Amino acid sequence: MESKSITAHITNRAEIKSGAGEVNCSGSYALIEKVNQYRSEFGTDPTLWPIKAVNDSSDILINEIILKSTNQYAISYSQDELCHCRSVATETVIQTIKQDCHTVKEISRATKAGTGCGTCVPQLRILLSEILRSDLEKI
Ligand code: FES
Repeated sequence: MESKSITAHITNRAEIKSGAGEVNCSGSYALIEKVNQYRSEFGTDPTLWPIKAVNDSSDILINEIILKSTNQYAISYSQDELCHCRSVATETVIQTIKQDCHTVKEISRATKAGTGCGTCVPQLRILLSEILRSDLEKI
């Protein structure tokens, strides 16, 4: 059983925490409902939960807590700023994806990332692919 505390969150919106044999969440009715379903189907240890296709932000947070619990969570881009033309932080882009912006166009509209030289657009697509657990060709 995983004992360290692990968190996945959407800033000012929803959070899920795992540790000491428990999973707790707050901030989103949809997230609470899904976590309750996972608990009743698979138990309280998120290392035993299956990764599922992403339909909404709740799925993103649940997948994140599963992947962090099994030491498989990875975001390949490690610099603080992702879009240098528009000074958009990587975390801002990640949070925007978690808040249901699931295309480059939606991210650009929400953050302005990718609206300058376009050099960062391939990295935006990679981040989308990693967070949505989707093939890059489908992004
Ligand atoms: S680096 Fe993002 S548009 Fe130029």
